Amino acid sequence: MKFFIDTANLKEIQEAYELGVLDGVTTNPSLMAKEGITGKDNIMRHYKAICDIVDGDVSAEVVSVDLAGMIREGEELVEIDDKIVVKIPMTKEGVKALKYFSGKGIRTNCTLIFSAGQALLAAKAGATYVSPFVGRLDDISTDGIALIEQILTIYRNYGFETQVLAASIRHTMHVIQCAEVGADVMTGPLSVMEALLKHPLTDSGLEKFLADYAKGNS
Ligand code: G3P
Repeated sequence: MKFFIDTANLKEIQEAYELGVLDGVTTNPSLMAKEGITGKDNIMRHYKAICDIVDGDVSAEVVSVDLAGMIREGEELVEIDDKIVVKIPMTKEGVKALKYFSGKGIRTNCTLIFSAGQALLAAKAGATYVSPFVGRLDDISTDGIALIEQILTIYRNYGFETQVLAASIRHTMHVIQCAEVGADVMTGPLSVMEALLKHPLTDSGLEKFLADYAKGNS
């Protein structure tokens, strides 16, 4: 299972990278705005800075809603670095853009996936990744993990190579449940990755080991 970090914060990306378990980065316009990154040139420079930190795919989202605009933006984005994956929203124009980029050998991540039908369409159009939003479905009393499982079954049935990138991951149980059903990738905040390593018995066990060592070596 690949771990991507879902942020545009360079410090957090660096920290996740140093942990040694980071396989890539996902961003979106909201995450860019949260870091105060505005204006096309600054945004492009920021993507480059992210690419310089990580070994792995970096999803960069288009903000055009028409096909020509998505193509223009996507082609500019992939010029930044080989690690860039063009993130395209699940719309009619988006599906056409997925097909276009797939024909050109440009990797894509189809975002804002909330149903199996959308995921099927994205795979047929040749998306490299699909991003179903687990947390946002849970927010509206719909089982986000069940959607991940359903998409994986559909892709397995037909041998689609599109990878299921579980997005909108909010807590450790989301990660564990995604791993149980076999999601290819999860993307979440640094806090969730760090929370995975915590257990009170680890802390108390280590405290005792160190205290016993200190007694024997004092
Ligand atoms: O990758 C999608 C993600 O950024 C959405 O997460 O927590 O805003 O639902 P959230």
